[in-house]
Amino acid sequence: MSIYVTTPIFYVNDQPHLGHAYTILTADAYSRYKRLSDENVYFQTGTDEHGDKIVQAAEKAGTSPKEYADRISEYFRTTWPQLDIEADNFIRTTDSDHIKTVQKILQKVYDKGDIYLSEYSGHYCKGCERFLTEKELVEGKCPDHLCIPEEIHEENYFFKMSKYQEWLIDHITQHPEFITPERYRNEVLSFLQDPLEDLCISRPVTRLTWGVELPFDRNFVTYVWFDALINYLTGLGYPDQETFGQYWPAAEHIIAKDILKPHAVYWPTMLKAIGLNPYRKLHVHGFWKVGEHKMSKTLGNVARPGEMIDRFGVDPVRYFLLREMSFGLDSSYTPEALIDRYNSDLANDLGNLFSRSLTMVQKFAGGKIPEPGETEPEDRGLSEAARQMLIDYQREIENFNFHKALASVWELIGRGNKYIVHNAPWELAKDPANKERLNTFFYHLLESMRLVSLTLLPFMPGTGKKMLESLGLHADPDNPGQLEWGELAPGTAIKKGEALFPRLDKKDREQTGKGQKREKKKPAASADQGEEGVITFDEFKKCDLRVAEIVIAEKVEKSDRLLKLTVKAPEKRTVVAGIAEHYSPEDLPPGKKVIIVANLQPVKLMGITSEGMILAAREGDRLFLPDIAKEVSAGSKLA
Ligand code: MSP
Repeated sequence: MSIYVTTPIFYVNDQPHLGHAYTILTADAYSRYKRLSDENVYFQTGTDEHGDKIVQAAEKAGTSPKEYADRISEYFRTTWPQLDIEADNFIRTTDSDHIKTVQKILQKVYDKGDIYLSEYSGHYCKGCERFLTEKELVEGKCPDHLCIPEEIHEENYFFKMSKYQEWLIDHITQHPEFITPERYRNEVLSFLQDPLEDLCISRPVTRLTWGVELPFDRNFVTYVWFDALINYLTGLGYPDQETFGQYWPAAEHIIAKDILKPHAVYWPTMLKAIGLNPYRKLHVHGFWKVGEHKMSKTLGNVARPGEMIDRFGVDPVRYFLLREMSFGLDSSYTPEALIDRYNSDLANDLGNLFSRSLTMVQKFAGGKIPEPGETEPEDRGLSEAARQMLIDYQREIENFNFHKALASVWELIGRGNKYIVHNAPWELAKDPANKERLNTFFYHLLESMRLVSLTLLPFMPGTGKKMLESLGLHADPDNPGQLEWGELAPGTAIKKGEALFPRLDKKDREQTGKGQKREKKKPAASADQGEEGVITFDEFKKCDLRVAEIVIAEKVEKSDRLLKLTVKAPEKRTVVAGIAEHYSPEDLPPGKKVIIVANLQPVKLMGITSEGMILAAREGDRLFLPDIAKEVSAGSKLA
């Protein structure tokens, strides 16, 4: 079977954050699972680059929309491989083939009479990039962006969405799997109880030029939704490429609840007007908060996937996000919650089972997978539990309950740990007469671990692969039968590697960026980066290095590594620096000068927002702050 898995194309007005990462992670895990089950998957993500929001963000950054879009799109493109995301296509709405496809479709729908020009006045929310109906406003404000929408009167082009309302209601009613989880299907059906308004799809060029020109009227551009949703067709080579024939309408779109209406109402009606079958499924998840708060740049609490990976490693981040959120509901991230899950699930349960088992096979079974003999009820209990796990696991992934799929794997892990304790192989090994019993025991233990490794591949690809290699195996996407009990071949030599998940200690709870060393994939070199590690002068210029004068240096409570520095550069700001093991507050008296990177995204460290980073030289284990001449004043830029 063929499946087309997509994420939303993300706006380039912000860099990738935890919310974006979660969506793409579910898409990646689902695609990997489907590939493992021998299905043909085409997985697409990308960036949405037209519209007011981008123009504003570019203006703020003092650059052109195109340059700005290029830069941020590149962040997305290079962040995803760090998260071990393997997408088949990365689409940009500024790509020329996309623009052509949008224009082709606009012309087609216009010729059919489903697009018309009309006078319009309404409440336009810039955040949503659409007009809101009276009913959607809460106390006159957009409930999502908490702003009063602009009153706009102008001529515009409209898509006759209302024409397809009855068809859409029937389709959703007859296909319960079309929008899931059910709460979102119900939300859409309830919204469709009121008459559907036609969709405004244009902006006059007098107000916005950063869009796709309407092929039948050069005075207008189309923007966000009529532009963005079509990415799902462009990516397959609509209308005549082979990929399109193979993967449409086998599309499964993954989104969060914020863009439910465009995907559940605008998109299927647009497809109907284009003369295409609707997509197969829409999977809708909830929102990630950080602690108790909505993520926001103003609050300075935006969690960035790159930083999380640097601190915890890629697989623990993948595991946490997929294990913690029940798809459809909101969830909350804190580094403490991640560390707790890491220590209990990864280091204790999984890591221990795996390393104990391999050590024992080396010690008591000659380091090879043994031939099993007669089974006992306890062995059959374990194989039965593994079979049950496979059934639960597959059902839960198909239903997008990733957290439950993982919970079922952990049930088997728990069972494996108990199986070891009950059989006490170290006791059996004392008597050579128990050799066959010991072999049967190890075979069952290792076979259940093979299944654990395979089922973890979609969630933690690096870990699953490492585990399989230790068992002398590799995942074979051409052999779906491998997800069954009894495929383990006796005689194969096992290889014990390093611990999978060394425990995180108290120090890792502090965000110093100096956590345990973890393997990290380098992001792909950016377009203007010739060689890896080499940067251009333009890139270097982006770095704002300045002299800052200490106003006061203080210890950070409960931290051995951090100092809170209030500095002038020349404006007052707080910088939290990981130098407390090398400098005490007394070493940094008021007036002392240091060098800071002044234009870093603020981060919260131990509850304090840090607005910059101190530069220091490292010599062995020690850090040294550079000396600055007295004459240099606070705020001077480094030339
Ligand atoms: N460009 C549009 C989508 C067009 S698709 C044809 C857009 N972009 S966005 O950058 O705002 O991304 C929205 C999506 O990002 C959400 O639907 C979700 O996938 C993800 N998330 C953004 N914030 C999120 C959370 N706080 N939590 C979970 N996911 C979130 O809308």
